Amino acid sequence: MDRNLALEFVRVTEAAAIAAAKWIGRGEKKKADGAAVDAMRSRFNQVDFSGTVVIGEGEKDEAPMLYTGEKVGTKKGPVMDLAIDPLECTDSVAYGRYNATTVVASGPKGSLLHAPDTYMKKICVGPLGKKAINLEASVKVNIEKVAKAMNKKVEDITVVVLDRERHADLIKEIRDAGARVRLITDGDVAAAIATCFPESGIDMLMGVGGSTEAVLAAVPVKILGGEILCQFKAKKDADIPKIKAAGVKNINKIFDAEDMAKGKELTFTATGVIDGPLLSGVVFGKNKAITHSIVIRGISGTIRYVTTHHHYYK
Ligand code: FBP
Repeated sequence: MDRNLALEFVRVTEAAAIAAAKWIGRGEKKKADGAAVDAMRSRFNQVDFSGTVVIGEGEKDEAPMLYTGEKVGTKKGPVMDLAIDPLECTDSVAYGRYNATTVVASGPKGSLLHAPDTYMKKICVGPLGKKAINLEASVKVNIEKVAKAMNKKVEDITVVVLDRERHADLIKEIRDAGARVRLITDGDVAAAIATCFPESGIDMLMGVGGSTEAVLAAVPVKILGGEILCQFKAKKDADIPKIKAAGVKNINKIFDAEDMAKGKELTFTATGVIDGPLLSGVVFGKNKAITHSIVIRGISGTIRYVTTHHHYYK
């Protein structure tokens, strides 16, 4: 893969983040998402590559742009599959809450799981806990094994969970096991990646969240040496044939990061829209905007933090 392509994608996520950030707190989630999609698509089409969206805004009939199957780029250069979320956490932007990002993951054709948009049960940890997790084991056993692997006391383990009613039992089990729970309103991609950075204070992610977000998180978690285990949990019965149509023969299969993001030629790029555990959000100044991004490359394992000052000359 062209070494510069991962850095080209920063321009794509930056443009989407600036466009979305203009909608922070205005109560307009569709407009925030639309602004991010427009900006992302227009930037992609300035990049010399031939990209196919394999995880995008949805089916062609429901998403006018960046839909699954759409081709982007100038068509000159490497051929890649893309998993994108032009605005991860639309509600957080609409209501001015925490943890929104714009995200692009890429890999060679066939490398990224074409997960349909439903739910997955997830458990995610950083490198030290990688061999300690098992999606079929109890919450208590997982936490105890991760604590041991990380050489920490159980009471010092912090587990991030999406704040949803469906997680009431999970939250109780984490507390009963003696660990700490950190509830987030949205954004399990950034929370999953944060497990790979000890300074984030997040040791594990558990619970049921978006399946497309699972693939987006699998790319950086794998590169960073962590692990994410996931199993489809259909939101509704109609999702089951979609999961099967995506080539998943056994709906109970447990996917690891390698199953969702194959090989090494992977890239992950994200820009913060609103501050979260991974990235700071967009800051606007007079005729300028400052963005904070992360770029992770699979071949080298390089992690780059990019702070960009964008000037608007009129
Ligand atoms: P959206 O921006 O698509 O709303 O996703 C935000 C998010 O919090 C994801 O991070 C998470 O995986 C998913 O929603 C959880 O879904 P739900 O809100 O239905 O519980």
